[in-house]
Amino acid sequence: MAAYNTEKVLSVQHWNDSLFSFTTTRDDALRFENGQFVMIGLEVEGKPLMRAYSIVSPNYAEHLEFFSIKVPNGPLTSRLQHLKVGDDILVSRKPTGTLLLSDLKPGKHLYLLSTGTGLAPFISLIQDPEAYEQYDKIILVHGVRRVNDLAYEDFITKELPNNEFFGEEVRNKLIYYPTVTREPFKNSGRLTDLMENGKLFADIGLPPLNPETDRAMLCGSPAMLEDTCRVLDAAGLKVSERIGDVGDYVIERAFAEK
Ligand code: A2P
Repeated sequence: MAAYNTEKVLSVQHWNDSLFSFTTTRDDALRFENGQFVMIGLEVEGKPLMRAYSIVSPNYAEHLEFFSIKVPNGPLTSRLQHLKVGDDILVSRKPTGTLLLSDLKPGKHLYLLSTGTGLAPFISLIQDPEAYEQYDKIILVHGVRRVNDLAYEDFITKELPNNEFFGEEVRNKLIYYPTVTREPFKNSGRLTDLMENGKLFADIGLPPLNPETDRAMLCGSPAMLEDTCRVLDAAGLKVSERIGDVGDYVIERAFAEK
């Protein structure tokens, strides 16, 4: 059996010059946990050209959704950005990844800390009813350079709170904290600085990080992960070392194409 399913592109949305999302059909047999990733790609010169992509859509959705940057000379994204409805795309059959609710100890507050396309797995997780059962507050932090990089803002602030099944949970528990570093915005600065200087916690009305109550998931660039781990470690939180190892926080590199 081939390692990949061939799916059809159902929709494409361009957020700005460098970011876009698209949805595809989903094989009936594909099962995944919210927060996991698959390999996706295109056949180029007779060979599959594949990259890891977090699944944006929740595991109960009929379709799959992905969020991508456009790298002008990126082997895959320079092609993917031209996807059109009806095009074929390859999707691996074996989802995996470390951003699993089940790898976190029980807690009260779940911090989902992302920069750039690191937001992707958290869009899936904030649509997981179990996340709302397990936590009193879920804080989604999205750090970006420019205001128009804040993809999914309308979905998070307008659509999700009106979800017919768990909209009330979203309204009571989800705190969205976008922050912009390279132009003026209501929240500005890197999320690492905002945690270290306490502004994030003051703004959202929660106490500073506490290993008794706080859990986190991280997804961003290698530098963002390194710096954010340092902040969490300093607060006494323990990282989950591998899939199946339960900790106070889990990390995944945002799969950016260079
Ligand atoms: P900055 O503008 O200060 O570099 P990128 O597009 O480079 O991945 O950046 C996305 C966002 O992540 C930007 O707001 C950027 O801030 C921020 N960022 C970059 N590196 C780090 C880091 N090491 N820790 C926290 N945030 C970071």
